[in-house]
Amino acid sequence: MNAGNIDTLPRERFPRHIAIIMDGNGRWAAERRRNRLFGHRHGINAVREAVRECRRLNISHLTLYAFSMENWKRPPTEVAGLWRLLKSYVQTELKELRDNGVRLNVIGRVELIPKDVRDAIDYTLRETAACRDMVLTIALSYGSRDEILTAVRDLARRVKAESLDADAIDEQTIDRALWTADMPDPDLLIRTSGEFRISNFLLWQLAYTEIHVTPTLWPDFSKKDLHAAILDFAGRERRFGLTGEQIKKGMKDEG
Ligand code: FPP
Repeated sequence: MNAGNIDTLPRERFPRHIAIIMDGNGRWAAERRRNRLFGHRHGINAVREAVRECRRLNISHLTLYAFSMENWKRPPTEVAGLWRLLKSYVQTELKELRDNGVRLNVIGRVELIPKDVRDAIDYTLRETAACRDMVLTIALSYGSRDEILTAVRDLARRVKAESLDADAIDEQTIDRALWTADMPDPDLLIRTSGEFRISNFLLWQLAYTEIHVTPTLWPDFSKKDLHAAILDFAGRERRFGLTGEQIKKGMKDEG
């Protein structure tokens, strides 16, 4: 269901956290008989537009899946090209991010990322650390099972060292042990290019997230597509396991 116009949508119907699986760069390039990196380069323009528009709409968290653990298996020239693009993105966007109050955040196995790219990322992380209006998280060298495994190992070590009681472990303990510790769970997940998969992205955090799949290939993803996804989200009833009647009654009780 579509809930109308983005500019008249009440604040409380906006998602607080949007996560995006940016897919289809390769197909977009193939349609133009160009190589895959050509698609990724154009994908950067779509990233820029999505960040600007989320900031304009006062979305507090945007999380982009830019490089998965599985992506390491791609041809070395594509992998090297993607890192070059990422390095250039964090360098060229720094001023705009800072001027607009956007803090950069990165999740994933950053230690695997080439040193010069890591240094450029670290610089932008430091330079935007005081920004308070939006958090832009880029998932790099990221795998959700890897994140969960790391958290489980960390908790197991703490139990062994007797600084944590195994019976006291609850959902919050796990939330706090993940790389997304200080973020709300995504309200809306967007996947481009028409694929209905989660692809090892934020498996724990997406438990109650609304999913919007669009056939648009990522380099063509524009603010119009973003608005369509947000309006689709706004038209959904999020029940968190309750019945529709319970939700309506709860809303009435809250006034
Ligand atoms: C998926 O398309 C996209 C990627 C693996 C990389 C996404 C990276 C960018 C958009 C550029 C850098 C990002 C940032 C945040 C600066 P695909 O290659 O799997 O497309 P296909 O499925 O059509 O082959």
